[in-house]
Amino acid sequence: MPPLVWYFIGLVLFAAIVYWLVVMTEGTYLGTRPVAWLYDLAAPRYDRIKAVQYVYELRYIGIPLLEAVDDSREWKLLDVATGTGRVLSALEDVGYSNGRLYGVDRSLGMLNGAILRAKQYEHRTEYAQQDAMHLGFANGVFDCVSCLEALEFMQHPKQAIQEMLRVLKPGGTLLLTNRVGFDSWFFPGRMSKRGRLETYLQAEGLGNIRSMRWQIDYDIVWARK
Ligand SMILES: C[S@@+](CC[C@H](N)C(=O)[O-])C[C@H]1O[C@@H](n2cnc3c(N)ncnc32)[C@H](O)[C@@H]1O
Repeated sequence: MPPLVWYFIGLVLFAAIVYWLVVMTEGTYLGTRPVAWLYDLAAPRYDRIKAVQYVYELRYIGIPLLEAVDDSREWKLLDVATGTGRVLSALEDVGYSNGRLYGVDRSLGMLNGAILRAKQYEHRTEYAQQDAMHLGFANGVFDCVSCLEALEFMQHPKQAIQEMLRVLKPGGTLLLTNRVGFDSWFFPGRMSKRGRLETYLQAEGLGNIRSMRWQIDYDIVWARK
């Protein structure tokens, strides 16, 4: 083959690898910092791109979370990799009385979006920049821990889940999502693919594990510690 053809093939391969590393898997195989940096860049457009449907946010996130806690007394929820505060917003929209909500994320840009969104109820929400693999909370303090659409972007999803379980109270509710379907093939070495997360949670001794299809690329998984 003429050298120019080899050059062209090399260029196409290189572009495909860069596309996979930066666009498809959002920097996760490059490290934690590149992921946060890419989300910092995307943060101002994130809500517009996602365009989540208010009614589904309530039906699949806000209402079931509120049903999982006893709102007649004080309770706490931690949303890990909270992004622009989707879970906390869903709970605010449903309405609750005695919750304190915490959101953590590695990306400051995303957190700024969340803080802006939470302006009107800032007295009962707190946001902090933290890595999911090293949560800065004591053991067993949260009644609920959630983490949506983020495990596949973490270098060590099992370590992140262990951290979530550490800060969750015995009997507390865990809400996670798992990347499934065609897209999950592009996340080798992660827990993505249908059923894997549920099997792992079962092995960790969690009970009442329920999962259902959610959005296009995810399963939403509920479990009790
Ligand atoms: C697709 S967004 C999901 C955000 C939000 N949970 C939602 O459903 O809209 C993924 C989020 O995970 C965060 N993230 C990725 N790796 C993280 C890590 N190791 N620790 C904390 N946050 C992380 C990113 O910064 C980003 O905000």
